[in-house]
Amino acid sequence: MKIGNLEIKNNVFLAPMAGITDMAFRKICKEYGAGLVYTEMVSSKGMHYKDDKTNLLTAVADEERPAAVQIFGSDPDIMADAAEKIAEYADIIDINMGCPAPKVVKNDDGSKLMLNLELVDKITEKVVKASKVPVTVKTRKGWDDEHITAVEIAKMCEKNGVAAIAIHGRTRNQFYTGKADWDIIADVKRAVSIPVIGNGDIVDVESAKRMIEYTKCDGIMIGRAAIGNPWIFKSIAEGANYVPSKEEIYDVIEKHYNNLIELKGEYVAVREMRKHISYYIKGVPNATEMRRRINETTQKDEVIKILEENLI
Ligand SMILES: Cc1cc2nc3c(=O)[nH]c(=O)nc-3n(C[C@H](O)[C@H](O)[C@H](O)COP(=O)(O)O)c2cc1C
Repeated sequence: MKIGNLEIKNNVFLAPMAGITDMAFRKICKEYGAGLVYTEMVSSKGMHYKDDKTNLLTAVADEERPAAVQIFGSDPDIMADAAEKIAEYADIIDINMGCPAPKVVKNDDGSKLMLNLELVDKITEKVVKASKVPVTVKTRKGWDDEHITAVEIAKMCEKNGVAAIAIHGRTRNQFYTGKADWDIIADVKRAVSIPVIGNGDIVDVESAKRMIEYTKCDGIMIGRAAIGNPWIFKSIAEGANYVPSKEEIYDVIEKHYNNLIELKGEYVAVREMRKHISYYIKGVPNATEMRRRINETTQKDEVIKILEENLI
């Protein structure tokens, strides 16, 4: 599929997830076949004022391309400035209009933008003008059941030159609860001619197929079901749910670990890998006991020993 002038190998994407989709994990998802990967959301203000943490979050490695860097904020000029800088090395700039977190919403950022269409208009117009790479938007169904804005936002995005729009079929007030509404994704698809990416509750080959058939969306985006399960991209590409061996799980954890150490150093990697490993070993015999031991350990070598004892 194409997003703007950019050719994407396939239409199954890794969703942006704060605390999860850093470069270490994105590289793994790419290896297993994700067509496009997204960074965690990064502050446009941080980028504007150039803090080092933001630089680490927005860096893109060659082997994960094409990659989208997602920015959040609500000041059109600051967003445009961040986009201009990031467009020097990212393949796509994605604008976050869906984050429900109170600390984000209270600054009028993320999903709060769904209540301020005038601002959406300004932000998309300025960011598209400032960016030399395609700009996409990721939003939700709306703020709450009284404010369902996805279709209006999609039309505005199209008018302003946004190259694709991803819709998570929940309102802000739903956070991650309840069921994603796929009808709203179908509504958006009918309303615009830019590519529409469907998101929410895709967990396997069957739900991936159903999302495309039901909504007629052009691409799909997978979030939670990819955590500890990068094989989901291979499964969807091959049309059959792939079950990795314990040895393959071990190999992927080790690779993920090494990627993370390279990115953030061993101290941080050991701590951050705990949550990833917890997901990777879901369903493996003895997982509860492994998690308990791994969470008490502060050395990578010891973690690897526990994994070796149980997985190979
Ligand atoms: C831990 C976590 C972090 C997330 N962080 C972001 C984010 O930074 N930006 C964003 O647009 N969405 C974020 N999301 C939302 C996901 O991208 C996705 O829209 C949502 O999880 C629904 O898709 P799913 O049912 O496939 O998980 C996050 C979700 C989770 C679970």
